[in-house]
Amino acid sequence: MTALVHRFETRLIAIASAVTCRWRCHWARHRGHYIGKNVKIGSRVKLSAPPGRITIGDKSTIHAGACLIAANGWIEIGRNCSVNPGCMIYGHGGLRIGDNVRIAANSVIVPANHRFDDMGRHIVQQGESVLGVEISSVVWIGTSVVILDGVKIGRGCVIGAGAIVTRSTDPDCIYVGNPARLLRKRGAK
Ligand SMILES: CC(C)(COP(=O)(O)OP(=O)(O)OC[C@H]1O[C@@H](n2cnc3c(N)ncnc32)[C@H](O)[C@@H]1OP(=O)(O)O)[C@@H](O)C(=O)NCCC(=O)NCCS
Repeated sequence: MTALVHRFETRLIAIASAVTCRWRCHWARHRGHYIGKNVKIGSRVKLSAPPGRITIGDKSTIHAGACLIAANGWIEIGRNCSVNPGCMIYGHGGLRIGDNVRIAANSVIVPANHRFDDMGRHIVQQGESVLGVEISSVVWIGTSVVILDGVKIGRGCVIGAGAIVTRSTDPDCIYVGNPARLLRKRGAK
């Protein structure tokens, strides 16, 4: 009997979560974002675009609590990507993410810097410099990674947990540390 109740509860939760997920996609489209087919948007996900723009490709998942903030720029996420809980993804200078990308929990992507060289004015009065960030397809970004403005992550890269990426990376390579350094080429162990 208990097993039956448990199965019933599990099924009920699955149905409720599928319905709320569809509702979140519907609401996001209503608010002007492009949301592809079979996209999953978890609870407490923040999608904030105006005046920017957010695009999420087919079969991608934005997990609970992730924040996507396009600011004055744009965020484009390809197909079959996942953005895990607690990620902060900004789009100031433009952020393009390819297909089949995994971004682990609590990672931060920030395509912008405050300007700070004018010693006569506060930093907050000097505006921002923006170059944009590009993450190519089939990349795996570990947990708690920070990717800074102007970086292009090459196709097939692995970025180790906790890395701070300040420079662009070569394809099919593993990078770790702060600042991120080449560990080795994939398959060369
Ligand atoms: C980068 C990573 C994939 C490398 O794995 P690996 O090839 O098995 O690497 P190894 O364990 O053989 O380590 C090789 C060297 O890199 C170092 N290293 C590995 N990962 C590191 C990291 N994230 N940061 C700094 N150094 C790291 C090791 O200390 C080791 O150094 P040493 O040779 O001086 O002893 C893995 O360590 C990692 O960070 N995975 C991310 C896990 C994660 O975030 N998962 C989220 C769920 S999706």
